Parts: sequence; structure tokens; C-alpha cells
Amino acid sequence: MKKIAVMTSGGDAPGMNAAVRAVVRTGIFHDMEVIGVRRGFSGLINEELQPMTLGSVADIIQRGGTILYTARCEAFKTPEGQKRGYEVLRKHGIEGLVVIGGDGSFHGAAVLANMGIATVGIPGTIDNDISCCDETIGFDTAVNTAIEAIDKIRDTATSHERTYVVEVMGRNAGDIALHVGLAGGAESVLIPEVPYRLDDVIQKLERGVARGKKHSIILVAEGAGNGIEIGKYLSEHTGFEVRVTVLGHIQRGGAPSARDRLLASRLGAYAVELLQSGVSGKMAATQNGALVAVDFETVFTTPRQPDISLYKLADMLSI
Ligand code: ADP
Ligand code: F6P
Repeated sequence: MKKIAVMTSGGDAPGMNAAVRAVVRTGIFHDMEVIGVRRGFSGLINEELQPMTLGSVADIIQRGGTILYTARCEAFKTPEGQKRGYEVLRKHGIEGLVVIGGDGSFHGAAVLANMGIATVGIPGTIDNDISCCDETIGFDTAVNTAIEAIDKIRDTATSHERTYVVEVMGRNAGDIALHVGLAGGAESVLIPEVPYRLDDVIQKLERGVARGKKHSIILVAEGAGNGIEIGKYLSEHTGFEVRVTVLGHIQRGGAPSARDRLLASRLGAYAVELLQSGVSGKMAATQNGALVAVDFETVFTTPRQPDISLYKLADMLSI
């Protein structure tokens, strides 16, 4: 394989730049020409291509976001858009493509793989919602960013003796909430994968108050409910002073953690090596720390669960 391309697609995630850097440098190391596709599948359709050099990925390993920009592209979900993307790749003699993104982006990548472009995906999303891999690039940084915020909220919650509801991202997955809740010492963690009743949350809050506890933090995954509405319900049904913080896109930015940089560097290099050895239609990932290539089809059809033992632990430790 002599010419490959790399794109970032879907929501950005800290560590995507480190993955782009690893793809570009590994490709060049193996005497390949590497092209950057700007703005995901939207840029592919619009032929937004740029040659990548060793220098074009210098000084980015520590930067959040993605230098290739990213986008969500409805047109690529249509047969016409997909045909156009395929034609652009063919026109430029691009034989292999690395797609860094989430589950949606992998569906786009799988389409191109079926059309005959060798394609490998790298899991990059803060949500950690992709099956068959230990962790997605960006998750660790997002969790650390949210923990920093929780620690600060705890200071003011303690001073004012208030109950705080904090809503975190994660789309339909509760991983961010679960990890932040456990590591941040939250009193309750609400995630979409585990049914909950707000009256149970209230009982727990009241038990805490009866023991002399003056402040609490309730962590809500966005997929488990609306933080503002939950805060309103708790306030109306307890008489406690409740405040709500929606952390939002702050979780998507910032310098990637060392763990995300390492994961991104390993997966970026591995993805190129997979393409070089003729692999297509797979996700480059780690399982139990080891590099593995998993069929997109397996990724799409394998159900995904957060680590429920962590949920039980968080519940027990916040008794
Ligand atoms: P993520 O990759 O983070 O899950 P999205 O779900 O928004 O983000 O998907 C990113 C992009 O991938 C979409 O905007 C679209 O261009 C492409 N995509 C998603 N689903 C499909 C699909 N079923 N077929 C083709 N392309 C898709
Ligand atoms: O997939 C990453 C993510 O940040 C989700 O956690 C969130 O639901 C969504 O993207 C937000 O998307 P947007 O940036 O388009 O508002």
C-alpha cells in the first residue's frame, strides 16, 4: 500500500491529534504517502484533502480537538454521498483509509470497506460507548476533566451545605458518570443502563442528613435524565437547597491525558500496520491491554455494558 488517508469524524475527543500524528508518522516511516481528509465524511465528499508531512503533525500530541477538524455529515448516509466519497478516494489513488471516531463513523467506514477501500477504524469518543475495546480515545481525559469540576463543586457544596446535581455527557452510555461518580465520591450515580427511582435517591439523601451529612453530589449521565429537571424534583420533594451544573462541552476539550496519548499513539501506528498487511473492515483497539483487530460487524452487533461492578461499588461506598 503506497497511499493512505486519515480523517477524524463525529464528536471530537482529546487524543485524536495524537492518533493522527501516529498514523501520519507510521505511514511515512513505511514509505507511504499520507493524506489528511478535513471535516470527516463531509470533507471527503467535498474533496477537502491535504498532504500530510512529518512537520504537519509536529507539536500536536499535547493538543485537544483535532487539527483535521471534524463534522457530522448526513449526506454520507445516502448511497449518492457514499458513491461520491468512494470516487474521491479512487480519483486520488488512495488505497487505504483510517477513520478516527465513534460508532457512527465506523458505519461510514464499513460502507467504504464494502466498496473496496481498505478501511480501519480507531475508537475516538469521550463517551466510551464502543463494544469490543477496553477504552475509547478521549474517555480518560473527559473523566479527569469532570473530576476536576466535581472537586471544585464539592468545595462550594460543603461550604453552603447544599445538594448538587451534576449532569455529564456520554450520549446513551453511563461510563463517564459512573467513573466520575466513583472517583469523585458522589452520593448517587444515575446512568441509563441501570433503572432508578428518584424517590430512592431522596431516601438516600435523607438517610445522609439524618446521620449529620450536610452536602451531597448526585451525578447524572445525560442519557439517564435531564439534570435540571432532576434537580427541580429533588428540591420540590425534599426542601433541600439544590443547585444544578451541566458540565457540557468542557468535557470534550483540553490537553489529552498521558493515558489517552499512549492509547492514541499505539492505535494510530497499529491501524497503519493493519492496512499495510491487507486488513480492512476492522477496528484497531485494545482488549486487556493487547492490540486487537475486530470486525466492524462484530463491533456493531456485540452488546455493550459499562462495568456494573463499578456501579455496585459506587453505591456501596456512598452508603
Ligand atoms: P460518532 O462517530 O461519534 O458516533 P456520529 O454518529 O455523528 O458520530 O457519526 C459521524 C458520522 O458518520 C455521521 O455524521 C455520518 O457522516 C457517518 N455515519 C454515521 N452513521 C452512518 C451510516 N449508517 N452510514 C454511513 N455513514 C454514517
Ligand atoms: O459523542 C460525544 C458527545 O459529546 C456526546 O457525549 C454528546 O451527547 C454529543 O457528543 C454532543 O454533540 P454536539 O457536540 O453535536 O452537541
